[in-house]
Amino acid sequence: MNHQSVLIIDFGGQYNQLIARRVRECNVYCELKPYTITLEEIKAFDPIGIIFTGGPRSVYDPSAPHVDPAIFDLGVPILGICYGCQLMAYTLGGSVTAAQADTAREYGKTHTYFNTDCKLFKGLPTESVTWMSHGDYMERIPDSFRLAAHSDGCPTAAICDEEKGFYGVQFHPEVNHTEYGQQMLRNFLYEICHANGDWTMGDYMRSSITAIREKVGDGKVLLALSGGVDSSVAAALLAEAVGSQLTCVFVDHGLMRLNEGDEVEAAFAKWPIRFIRVDAEQRFLSKLAGVSEPERKRKIIGEEFIRVFEEEAKKIGQVDYLVQGTIYPDVVESGTGDAAVIKSHHNVGGLPDYVDFKEILEPLRLLFKDEVRQLGRELKLPEYLVMRQPFPGPGLAIRVLGDVTKEKLDTLRQADFIFRDEIAKAHLEGTMNQYFAVLTNMRSVGVMGDGRTYDYTLALRSVTTTDFMTADWARIPYDVLDAISVRIVNEVSGINRIVYDITSKPPATIEWE
Ligand code: XMP
Repeated sequence: MNHQSVLIIDFGGQYNQLIARRVRECNVYCELKPYTITLEEIKAFDPIGIIFTGGPRSVYDPSAPHVDPAIFDLGVPILGICYGCQLMAYTLGGSVTAAQADTAREYGKTHTYFNTDCKLFKGLPTESVTWMSHGDYMERIPDSFRLAAHSDGCPTAAICDEEKGFYGVQFHPEVNHTEYGQQMLRNFLYEICHANGDWTMGDYMRSSITAIREKVGDGKVLLALSGGVDSSVAAALLAEAVGSQLTCVFVDHGLMRLNEGDEVEAAFAKWPIRFIRVDAEQRFLSKLAGVSEPERKRKIIGEEFIRVFEEEAKKIGQVDYLVQGTIYPDVVESGTGDAAVIKSHHNVGGLPDYVDFKEILEPLRLLFKDEVRQLGRELKLPEYLVMRQPFPGPGLAIRVLGDVTKEKLDTLRQADFIFRDEIAKAHLEGTMNQYFAVLTNMRSVGVMGDGRTYDYTLALRSVTTTDFMTADWARIPYDVLDAISVRIVNEVSGINRIVYDITSKPPATIEWE
């Protein structure tokens, strides 16, 4: 695929993926690469611009990450952010030092003053708020540079050598707290790197389709469809490219939300693909019967899923390509995970050992989630699939606490549907990132009509989050909660009490199991 590219060199800062997303939002393709990238690799990448990210170290630490100074002779514009800015200054002859408390050390929103004759700040007000997070500062800037911004505490908030196209900012333009951050990145890309904005999902879709056709030839392609956004968009892309050679296996484990299985099937009816929906509800329910321990449930579902998929794949015979819905954050994050296992996530991805195929195709591996959704729209997938909130692989089995039965699942499906319906009616979908109902295994006494009830308690869970690693509970207005509660107890038998989960993550997790 032939488009302009920006190279983002990663020095280990917390916002590095965000920089990449912001660049892509400006319709410029970019990739994030570790700082160990060699000069030869950089040349081969042929970037129109380079961005150095922030990072946790001090440039004068002996073990701090550095770059080959020859990078400054490539004739390519460079933007250094925070650590990246200090690294540029340090490498080119300036000096960086630990700020004394109360002087140039800054954390958080900071009033900053700009020289708007610097191309990076073109068209911006002369004062605005930036987001700072640095303990070191540039005491002396390199000779060829000039100051382009300062704050009350830091005289060197931004520097530039416009002749060479080198720019450095001490603050983080990529975070929303920096008022004009996106405009600064846009200026870097368009005013300084002369980007032509050739990264659009429409173009990406067309060039991917061509590339997939070339690669696959007349080979057979197999895809495990879960109904989630990533696998649905991957399926739609493959369907558009090589529809008649594609088989999608949709394992319906009976643990989906109301009508979800039918919606997924309907969305793919327009392509000439072979769509196999395996009705495996009975199999899953019998394996799950009497099991109440969450990790056991997850393992059983994960294993059964693979078994069902494997059986279907065997019926199809030899396939050439297996499609996985890997997306860019998975690629960037892979290899860094040494965190404790809190829950064993079941993903439809990890199947290669069980199926006989030649190669894996990962058509989304360069895309961020919002780009995947945009691609889905280009492929004319319905909005409810494209905007689907995350749904765990083990489905409703981990939202029915304790042992899982068909009856409990049906009760939960109805209640969960009402919850989502009322949120939609109140136009609140955009204010929360994930919301669902949980059927607890607690029963309590209630009164309905003139009679006593002894029924289940249903919990409502709704969170706001950017990365699902941490989350806050959503502040749903009381009158909306009231409408949901009244409808559920009236319309769903077996539930006589509704509670709202007001714990953040951590200490709780988003799902209850
Ligand atoms: P937790 O409950 O760990 O959830 O705070 C974080 C996010 O991950 C989703 N989740 C899963 N996704 N397979 C998935 O693909 C799983 O097994 C799984 N379990 C939890 C959860 O819905 C939330 O968005």
